[in-house]
Amino acid sequence: MTKFTKIILASLLSISLAHATENEKVNAVIMLNMESGLASIQKGFLYNSIDLIKEGVNKVQQENITYHDRKVIKSILPENRKQMENLALITSRRIENATEEMKSYLAFHQMKKAHNAFLDIVNACTDCHTLIRGW
Ligand code: HEC
Repeated sequence: MTKFTKIILASLLSISLAHATENEKVNAVIMLNMESGLASIQKGFLYNSIDLIKEGVNKVQQENITYHDRKVIKSILPENRKQMENLALITSRRIENATEEMKSYLAFHQMKKAHNAFLDIVNACTDCHTLIRGW
């Protein structure tokens, strides 16, 4: 997604996120895109559609690139959790590794292993949310 598209989507979201900062709005758009990527992957496994799985994994991988940047990670961490920057950064690297792994398994039609890599992605998402939300 281009920066421009992100800003447009962020503006649209601003109705539901009236009190959010610009950063939070952009972040929410990326999160929603990753969520839709995960949903496609899950559907793909359920309905046996490799194309849908591939589409989803590419989406997650592309959006997740944003979080390889320390500055971005810092900007999304709540004030009292800024010191968790490294841990948060690692969750995004885990997503990158797991998406690459998934793509390799898909190429070899090793579906069970590809599904395990999918679970690794979900776990990494959840680990960052755990840090952010103090779960
Ligand atoms: C580096 C940290 C990090 C990672 C990794 C991460 N998230 Fe998030 N996520 C956040 C933050 C920050 C928020 C906003 C604060 C909150 O909801 O607690 C958020 C919120 C969300 C939301 C709610 C958005 C809203 O509008 O309320 C969804 C959905 C979401 N993330 C999906 C995902 C998915 C799917 C993945 C994995 C593919 C993922 N996230 C990985 C940090 C992360």
